[in-house]
Amino acid sequence: MNDPIKIGIAGLGTIGSGVIKNLLRNKKELEDKYHFRFQISGISAFNKNKVRSFDVNQFTWFDNPIDLAKDTSIDLVIELIGGESGTAYDLAIEAIKNKKGLITANKALISSHGKELSELSSSNNSFIGYEAAVAGGIPVIKTLRGGLILDKINGIYGILNGTSNFILSRMSEADKSFEEALLEAQNLGYAEADPSFDINGLDAAHKLSIINSLCFSEFPSLEGISVQGIENILTLDHKYANEFGYNIKLIGSSSNIEGSLRKEVSPTLVKINSSLGSVSNVSNVVCINTEYSGTLVLEGEGAGEGPTSSSVLSDVVDFALDIKHHLFNKKHNKLTAPVSNKNFIERCYYLRVFLADQKGAMSNLTSILGKNGISIDQVIQRGGIHLKDEKNFTPVIMLTHPIDSESIDSAFSELINTDLISMDPIFLPVLKDNL
Ligand code: HSE
Repeated sequence: MNDPIKIGIAGLGTIGSGVIKNLLRNKKELEDKYHFRFQISGISAFNKNKVRSFDVNQFTWFDNPIDLAKDTSIDLVIELIGGESGTAYDLAIEAIKNKKGLITANKALISSHGKELSELSSSNNSFIGYEAAVAGGIPVIKTLRGGLILDKINGIYGILNGTSNFILSRMSEADKSFEEALLEAQNLGYAEADPSFDINGLDAAHKLSIINSLCFSEFPSLEGISVQGIENILTLDHKYANEFGYNIKLIGSSSNIEGSLRKEVSPTLVKINSSLGSVSNVSNVVCINTEYSGTLVLEGEGAGEGPTSSSVLSDVVDFALDIKHHLFNKKHNKLTAPVSNKNFIERCYYLRVFLADQKGAMSNLTSILGKNGISIDQVIQRGGIHLKDEKNFTPVIMLTHPIDSESIDSAFSELINTDLISMDPIFLPVLKDNL
């Protein structure tokens, strides 16, 4: 057996601690099955004295994580600090420049610095593993970097953020408010330290941009991805969506429609019993529509210690077996700038407004919609339901016929400038496909 692989680990939160525990637990298995040994040669985190689920004193402690990347005895750096810049970025760059392997769960880093990382990894012939950066324990990166490498991807639709899926599920299934469900997610350790990226859609957008690079040969970028979070969804929206036969899920999607690539992250109405509609709690799901293999559906846990550390370990095995790929499937000079979003493609929308309970209000509402080319397919309005502090406004819910997003934006601008409605209306896309 060769010399042991010497691993340095930076970031010892939920994931970092989980990686250490799982590496130690699988030591013999890795030796027997894959014929390599490893040793954890250094660890680093912001606070050495924090209570952790393992004894930090059994490993060499580095006060400065960047020193892990400079230490000549370390072969592989595992970055679990997080954040698109600062220490995580410096550590990644230093590790590559010093010819170390790099494993990271940091989607913001890969998404924001993908171009630079791709160029650097080509020129240094580096190993960079980032399975844990997208969809927790689901091997979506390995599927796109491996099994589907020669297929053509027509579209990809996924629930890519476990925290927001948990929140939406609790609102829908347990009648919780958004705030109650967020608190539960935080108590269970699913949300990021600052949960704003989980709920405003940016975490899912970072992951989608990485998937886009692998599927569509472009550098990762948020540019061209239209992003809407879940913060404006109310518990009652779930009830009305259910009545129409749909669940509301935060869907990240990139689809090639009539030759145009539409990329977005948005709360979306998906059919209740479809692959996307039936995945609850912290689970993620990725549906990949391909030219040669039909539609693949990968479902599993998208956040938390177990799934994420399992993905990190799979990258450790790849490093040990010397399995290398171009960072985004193609050499960096074959990747292009991201193609931007097209808004002219028509689809149906769910609309919810709190409409003034007064004469002519419904007629004025439909006239604004009609003026913007929006035709209504179904409507629900029931008496006796209203906002807590504004008893004069009742919810009106509509499903539209297919319409482009520019018309929706124009109707939105017009509506918010009237006194017809109380809070901002929400327009959510409806996915009619049975994905
Ligand atoms: N906070 C993320 C999520 C963790 O909820 O999906 C995994 O990226």
